Amino acid sequence: MAADLACYNIADLRLRAQRRLPHGVWEYLERGVEDEAAMARNRAAFDAVTFRPRVLRGVHAIDTRTTIFGRESPLPLALAPTGAAGLLWHEGDLALARAAAEAGLPFTISSASTIDVEQIAAAGGRQWFQLYLWEDRALSHAVLERAWQSGCEALFVTLDMSVPPNREYIHRNGFGTPFRLNARNTLDVLTHPRWLAGVMGRYALSGGIPSQANLPDRLRASVTKGAHPGALFKLDNLDWEEMRALRDRWPGKLVLKGILHPADAEEAVRLGADGIVVSNHGGRALDSAIAPLAALPDIRSAVSDRLTLFLDSGIRRGSDVVKALAQGADAVLVGRAPLYGLSAAGQPGVTRALSLLAEELRRTMALLGTRSLAEIDLELIG
Ligand code: GLV
Repeated sequence: MAADLACYNIADLRLRAQRRLPHGVWEYLERGVEDEAAMARNRAAFDAVTFRPRVLRGVHAIDTRTTIFGRESPLPLALAPTGAAGLLWHEGDLALARAAAEAGLPFTISSASTIDVEQIAAAGGRQWFQLYLWEDRALSHAVLERAWQSGCEALFVTLDMSVPPNREYIHRNGFGTPFRLNARNTLDVLTHPRWLAGVMGRYALSGGIPSQANLPDRLRASVTKGAHPGALFKLDNLDWEEMRALRDRWPGKLVLKGILHPADAEEAVRLGADGIVVSNHGGRALDSAIAPLAALPDIRSAVSDRLTLFLDSGIRRGSDVVKALAQGADAVLVGRAPLYGLSAAGQPGVTRALSLLAEELRRTMALLGTRSLAEIDLELIG
C-alpha cells in the first residue's frame, strides 16, 4: 500500500472505513449504545486534558519502550479484542494479528473471532486471548486450553457486558444477528460493491460465510443463522467465585477487562489478577458509564503498583496515550483505531494506524520534554 493511502491521522482512516463499509457494518464498528453519551464522554475526557510542557531537555532520542508482563514492548500499546474484524475485511483477524506482530505489539484474540485461535496464533508475535463465556462453560474451558496450547500468554476476561447492550440502531439498519437479507440491508450491501466482492465474495469462494471459529463444528453457526443453544454467550451469572475458578484454571497472566470502580480493582488484586483494563468498552455497554480516563486516578491509588493497569476507550491520538500514562495507566489498548485501518486497507491499513499512533506518541513526548515513558507523570498535566 500504503504510499497511496493518503491518511495522515486516525480520523482520515475512519473516513475511508466509513466510505468502504456498508452502513450497517459501519454502524456496528462505530456506534455506541442508547444516546452515545459514553462515547462522547470518553473523547471529552481526553480533550479536556492539557499539558504543561518542559523545554530544553535534549529530546533527540525518544524511548517509548516499556515492560508488559515481564517482557519488553516497543510501545505502551496493544491491540484490544474486537469481535467483528472478519466482517470488515476478509480474514480480518489475521490481518490485525499480522500487523501487530510486525509492529512487535501484543494482539488480543477475540473469543468470537471468525478464524480459530490456532490459526491466528500462527501469525506469530505476542498474543493474548479474550474470553466471553458461552452458556455451556465446558466449551469455553476447551477454548481456553487451546489458547494456552497455542501460546497465548494472557487471558483477558471481559466483564462489562453482563447482558446484551442496548444497540437500538441495529433494529433500524437491518444488520441484527442472525443476519438475514431484507430490503434495507440488501440495498446497503449492493451499493458497496468493493466490500461485497472483497469480503463476502472472497468468503463465498473459499468455502462459506464466516462463523464463530472457536466453537466445535457441531455448534458453529454462520452469521446468517441463529446460534445453537448452549453456544450463546451467557455472562449474567458470572461472579467472583467463577472468576476465582478461572484464575485456578488459567496458568498464564489473568486480566479483568471492563473495571471502572476502585473496589472491583481491589477485588481483582485479591483474586490474584495480573492486570485490569479500565474500560467502558468503547462506550458500547453502559451508556452512563464514567470515562475510563476519569476513573483511572482513583483506581491507580486503590491498587498502587500491585497489578498492570491498562486503559482503553477513545484513544485516537498519540497524545491520548500520554494522557492515560500521566494519569496512571501502564499501557493502553486500541480497538476502533486499528479497525478503521483494517476497514480502509486491510493489513497495511492496520500498520498505518499503529505507526501513526507511534509517531504521534514520539512527537508528543519530544514536545513535552519527556525522553522516556518513566518521565511521563501528573506534573505534565495543567
Ligand atoms: C462486543 O464486544 C462488542 O463491543 O460489540
